[in-house]
Amino acid sequence: MKTKVLMVCLGNICRSPLAEGILKCIVNPEDVFVDSAGTGGYHIGQSPDPRSIDVAKSKGIDISNQICRKFNTRDFDRFDVIYAMDKENYNSIINLASNLTQQNKVRLLLSETDRSDHEVPDPYYGGEDGFEKVFQIIEAACKHKAKLL
Ligand code: 4NP
Repeated sequence: MKTKVLMVCLGNICRSPLAEGILKCIVNPEDVFVDSAGTGGYHIGQSPDPRSIDVAKSKGIDISNQICRKFNTRDFDRFDVIYAMDKENYNSIINLASNLTQQNKVRLLLSETDRSDHEVPDPYYGGEDGFEKVFQIIEAACKHKAKLL
């Protein structure tokens, strides 16, 4: 049985598309299915932010075909692990859970890293360099998580 992993941020156009693309590059697709979603519905149906597409492309990862969607409660049944990019999104997802089994699927992507705040910073309102930094943070976390899947 494949392990199914969902990456979640707010918009599903900056951080979680990168997390989806990066983890997909690390794992065997026969063993692990990876998807992403946003807790907010501002960009449904859109491609990832061009700055995320560009930074991924610069590392040889193509995320341009991803389409933004909103997290919904069916995702609790469809996925084994749900990684939130920051505490705000973690709390938004936990608030939608209807039992302990669903709550236990939700984790912070950076829970085991030594970043003191355990948050992937939101790069949306910043410059290009924010996306490079976010790529590196997510890549390090995904390499670590992939070993546990
Ligand atoms: P993301 O970044 O959560 O990493 O996709 C954001 C994208 C869009 C917005 C906020 C954060 N927005 O408010 O539209």
